[in-house]
Amino acid sequence: MHPHFPKGPPVNKPVVLVAEELSEAGLAVLGADFEVRHTDGADRAQLLPALAEVDALIVRSATQVDAEALSHAPRLRVVARAGVGLDNVDVAAATKAGVMVVNAPTSNITSAAEHTVALILASARNVAQGHSALKAGEWKRSKYTGVELDAKVVGILGLGRIGQLVAQRLAPFGVDIIAYDPYLQPARAAQMGVRLVTLEEVLKQADFITVHLPKSKETIGLIGERELHAVKPSVRIVNVARGGIVDENALYSALKEGRVAGAGIDVFAKEPCTDSPLFELDNVVVTPHLGASTHEAQEKAGTQVARSVKLALAGEFVPDA
Ligand code: NAD
Ligand code: MLT
Repeated sequence: MHPHFPKGPPVNKPVVLVAEELSEAGLAVLGADFEVRHTDGADRAQLLPALAEVDALIVRSATQVDAEALSHAPRLRVVARAGVGLDNVDVAAATKAGVMVVNAPTSNITSAAEHTVALILASARNVAQGHSALKAGEWKRSKYTGVELDAKVVGILGLGRIGQLVAQRLAPFGVDIIAYDPYLQPARAAQMGVRLVTLEEVLKQADFITVHLPKSKETIGLIGERELHAVKPSVRIVNVARGGIVDENALYSALKEGRVAGAGIDVFAKEPCTDSPLFELDNVVVTPHLGASTHEAQEKAGTQVARSVKLALAGEFVPDA
């Protein structure tokens, strides 16, 4: 005979759906107070039914949290983005549905800034090209002659959190830094040793252009055909912000026609991106959206959003992370 245990009421823990990889540290912060479920947020056929009983949803950038997804989540109270950009979350639709949206705005900015510097240097010195050639048994020194950063002009588009960290990290290379950011006070930029100028001036003067803008209606295609006809042919362009801000077709033509000397691209208009005309070009170095992919950044993003989810589900004030 089995011993008889009195049955209490079933304990219904709030359900947190983790739709993309979340750090162990983030899962640990959630602890035992929640029922944590996992799904592949990039796969709509998995995501939509999985939303039915969910109180909180945690995503990175591959999950589109749009009006359709929200309509499948009648219990949803909070969407947490384990990172910076909120362009994959329809914040207006969420707000209309009474769903709070939180992110981890500082979690990966150091990683993104460091990756930007890596792509700038890789592009200046043909690191990836020399590496591939040598591994293929080719010792090509003159073909991969690069350029110095010293005394060059770096143009930063968007002098926000990441743009500022990039400026700080590049300053010791002896570069002159200019930036286009109409929302920033010139005095604030001057404190960092950066001159605020117009977009036209950045295009005209910069030897390196690095993009650190949010993706929005205003910024999609900001660097397109017209702009890529206005740059120096020696310019190298790096985008660790969002795909589509630099128009990929226009960039391809400019690189191919020698109107742009090189590019370092971490983000693509459509991701995952495993097939792009840009991949055919020798003067392009690419990474698969790795800007935030460090252990440190993922731990910070995971723990910050897990804390915000706990506070939001407890009905408490959620401070900016
Ligand atoms: P931020 O909000 O701190 O800075 C953005 C800056 O752009 C602000 O200073 C703002 O004034 C400026 N800006 C906004 N609209 C503008 C416009 N139309 N023209 C000119 N300037 C404009 O953002 P952040 O944390 O620095 O992030 C920058 C970008 O990097 C975002 O797109 C974010 O999603 C992306 N990001 C990518 C990765 C990655 O893994 N590749 C990692 C982190 C962040
Ligand atoms: C971000 O906006 O935080 C980044 O793109 C990082 C990511 O989603 O991996």
